[in-house]
Amino acid sequence: MSILVTGGTGFIGSHTCIELLRAGYEIVILDNLCNSREDMVRRIAELGGAEFAFYKEDIRDGAALDALFAKNDIDVVLHFAGFKAVGESVERSVAYYENNVGGTLTLLMAMQKAGVRSMVFSSSATVYGVPKSLPLDELAPVDFASLTNPYGRSKAMIEQILTDACQSDPSFSACLLRYFNPVGAHESGKIGEAPNGIPNNLMPRMLKVAAGEWPALTVYGNDFPTRDGTGVRDYIHVCDLATGHCRALEYIKGKAGCQVFNLGTGVGYSVLEMAGALEKVSGRAVPVSIVARRAGDVAEVYSDPTRAERELGWKAELGLERMCADSWRWYRQA
Ligand code: NAD
Ligand code: UFG
Repeated sequence: MSILVTGGTGFIGSHTCIELLRAGYEIVILDNLCNSREDMVRRIAELGGAEFAFYKEDIRDGAALDALFAKNDIDVVLHFAGFKAVGESVERSVAYYENNVGGTLTLLMAMQKAGVRSMVFSSSATVYGVPKSLPLDELAPVDFASLTNPYGRSKAMIEQILTDACQSDPSFSACLLRYFNPVGAHESGKIGEAPNGIPNNLMPRMLKVAAGEWPALTVYGNDFPTRDGTGVRDYIHVCDLATGHCRALEYIKGKAGCQVFNLGTGVGYSVLEMAGALEKVSGRAVPVSIVARRAGDVAEVYSDPTRAERELGWKAELGLERMCADSWRWYRQA
């Protein structure tokens, strides 16, 4: 099977490509490097133990996609490429819709022309909006009205587009993977998350505090109805996500229609539990400073991952200590 990986040099894409190469898949990576570096290509090849073609192109460039599909016999597309910063999406909503939704449409049209009929899409738990009950399973509605930002809405729109594409073309198949909170890094310490500018997510911010670059972790609220008052999330190791994509590829082979899977652990940890875990593995202090709640944050989000276990034969294996240890190793070596 030959796979086109859009956004393959980014955080989740790079870890997935290593896993795919190790599993013997042929891959082609397309990335415009707007949020990743070209040297990832060499690192992926080294850690994956095989070479592959890399195209520094944009998913919004239909002619470039046509040329790529003409040159490579692609069976399925793993679609990671897109913008992902929630806060930035509020400031730059049109750019977010143009890249995420517009880019996906251009890609789908090029796939149609080339006769490529399967896509695995990077969606997000964000599409559930404010949870009405926990844990979240795939039957929980995509609640467009409660989505608080253009990033989340762009993911929900793309899910709808792919659902419709499967309905209009019975030979087209899509797998929507809803990631919960990806953290961690490859155990080699050679690849990991490298956010541009000031990071927004908890793990990269905690790493800066543990490294002594920031004086304290700002904790957004300790008055939530959770066990210690701080927000609870379902953190998942990026290498577990990578194997989830391999299982999804096997599952989608020869199947028509649109399938949805949560990729999470089913276990939630609070901000203070996360900070404590990083302190333990790093041997460094992570002082905290409690501030007001962040706009749009909810108390608790965690998955019911049993559908993926039942149908994909996939289950997250790596626990909190590994997530923190691998993130810390990567941060120290990067
Ligand atoms: P990332 O920014 O590290 O990777 C995305 C990659 O896509 C980057 O290498 C970037 O250069 C590339 N890219 C962006 N726009 C492009 C375009 N128009 N053409 C070609 N390449 C383009 O992000 P990530 O954390 O690896 O996320 C991958 C996917 O997973 C994204 O779609 C994201 O929305 C989704 N996701 C991420 C998280 C998370 O917390 N990291 C959670 C849920 C879903
Ligand atoms: N938090 C802090 N201090 C910080 C950063 C975060 O207390 O400095 C808290 C947040 O309030 C929240 C938790 O840590 O309770 C996790 O926050 P993140 O920003 O890391 O992640 P979110 O759950 O807010 O959102 C992330 C991605 C979304 C994705 C979602 C999926 O940013 O794109 O996970 O569940 F959709």
